[in-house]
Amino acid sequence: MPKITVFSQDGNEHSLSVQVGDPLMEPLRDEGLVEGTCGGAASCGTCHIYLRDDWSQKCGERTEDEGYMLEGLEEHVEVKPVSRLACQIILTDEMDGISMDIAPQI
Ligand code: FES
Repeated sequence: MPKITVFSQDGNEHSLSVQVGDPLMEPLRDEGLVEGTCGGAASCGTCHIYLRDDWSQKCGERTEDEGYMLEGLEEHVEVKPVSRLACQIILTDEMDGISMDIAPQI
């Protein structure tokens, strides 16, 4: 089981064991770190994260819908090159050790 590290908005560090094949949003939501309101349809923006280090490469490219949603978020919060919607990242073994910050919520 891969392990990930998540820094929440209050500055606390969370170490989570995650299931390969699940969207990253699900363990974050189960831990109470994001809301995941739309259930993973890339249409609410509540699972916005900032990947740390060079993990962007391991997590693939943004999907088209994800790109549109992040553009929409730019009016409200900072969207960075490392911004992703966690619901659009499917966990793999290669993602063991990834770290991220939860982005400010809108
Ligand atoms: Fe709604 Fe990711 S859960 S955009």
